[in-house]
Amino acid sequence: MCDGAGLAELAEEHGTPLYVYSAEQIVYRYGLFEAATWNSMGERRHTVCYSVKANSSLAILKLLGDRGAGFDIVSGGELARVRKVCKPALKRVVFSGVGKQAWEIDAALKAGILIFNVESEAELALLGERAAKLGAKARFALRVNPDVFAETHPYISTGMSEHKFGIEIGLARAIYRRAAKNKSLNAAGVSVHIGSQIRSVEPFRAAMERVTGLIAELRGDGHRIRYVDAGGGLGIDYSDAAFDPAAEVARYAAAIGPVLGDTGLHLLLEPGRFIVAQAGGLLTRVLYVKKNGAKTFVVTDAGMNDLIRPSLYQGHHEILPVTLRSGAETTVDVVGPVCESADFFARDRVMGAVKPGELVIVLDAGAYGMSMSSNYNSRTRPAEVLVKGKKARVVRRRETVKELMGMESV
Ligand code: LLP
Repeated sequence: MCDGAGLAELAEEHGTPLYVYSAEQIVYRYGLFEAATWNSMGERRHTVCYSVKANSSLAILKLLGDRGAGFDIVSGGELARVRKVCKPALKRVVFSGVGKQAWEIDAALKAGILIFNVESEAELALLGERAAKLGAKARFALRVNPDVFAETHPYISTGMSEHKFGIEIGLARAIYRRAAKNKSLNAAGVSVHIGSQIRSVEPFRAAMERVTGLIAELRGDGHRIRYVDAGGGLGIDYSDAAFDPAAEVARYAAAIGPVLGDTGLHLLLEPGRFIVAQAGGLLTRVLYVKKNGAKTFVVTDAGMNDLIRPSLYQGHHEILPVTLRSGAETTVDVVGPVCESADFFARDRVMGAVKPGELVIVLDAGAYGMSMSSNYNSRTRPAEVLVKGKKARVVRRRETVKELMGMESV
């Protein structure tokens, strides 16, 4: 089941592969960040800016935007999504990313977003130019690189000097000083994001300490810094052990809240994965079970183009047969139909026996699943359904092969 909806019925009605999301779980996870105590000393203003890249489904954005969420975006495309579903949320948008283009900056300025997280001095210059042209004053935060090590997969670690992200923290003060001369720029904050799927809260605390240190200096220099953006990155447990999301958010808040002390800073948060990952699964049907040498392969109708995390990051996802049957567990590789040896969801996984025609669900696939999917091998991407109680609604229908070719000419 996904909440009140039966997975077998969903597969029957909508076909597979199918992304299935629980609206209740998404709202619950968002609420944990919203309601957490970010300051042991009392009320602190904070805005939860859901990171759109984790899952940019319009229906999910609407669900969150209508409840007061802000959004962390990285492109003009993501901005357009927010605008489409929740105009009032535009003023709660933070714009991150190392490669912002003039048209994207213009669109965000016109939309009146909250703040630009600027990743280089050249980008800051461009932001100043575009704001001047539009007669606007752009609120910005430098995204600083705190040189903090966060234990996670190297592809999703971002907070060290060897990474392309942010501005070396030691250089920030001089850049703020130079920016103060530009009437089209308003130094409103400082931001940081050290990586993703981080389970220990210590690196978050360390990064926040460096950032608040910088903010004290900046305020001393006369800049009116009001916002501190802690980024996203809080991890989940993909191995399905007992996981208490409420306790995790409380632990995270207890690590960074006290560092902010009585600074009066408005805290911005950019969680993505934590809100949606465990709210979604990828439902797929077994096509074949085949043996090659000593190995048994379960071939599903979903592939790496639908969910690339196992192939790209050795990401672990639990996989369960939808109908539990008695019988011996077997060790199998769960693989897709794509012509790549990297097309697997699990290797040497011990799981309940499955037969061709049966359904399995790849768990914790709500984040960076559909949003990273592709049409590789000319495969149409999965449909998506959003479950509310017993009701399931198709929030993205399946693509057709004809549509895939529709943009081409010969
Ligand atoms: N803020 C910034 C500036 C980011 O770069 C990211 C993620 C987030 C917030 C949200 O991070 P989260 O709370 O979701 O960890 N595709 C990878 C993850 C890439 C994360 C990219 N940046 C994966 O599937 O594990």
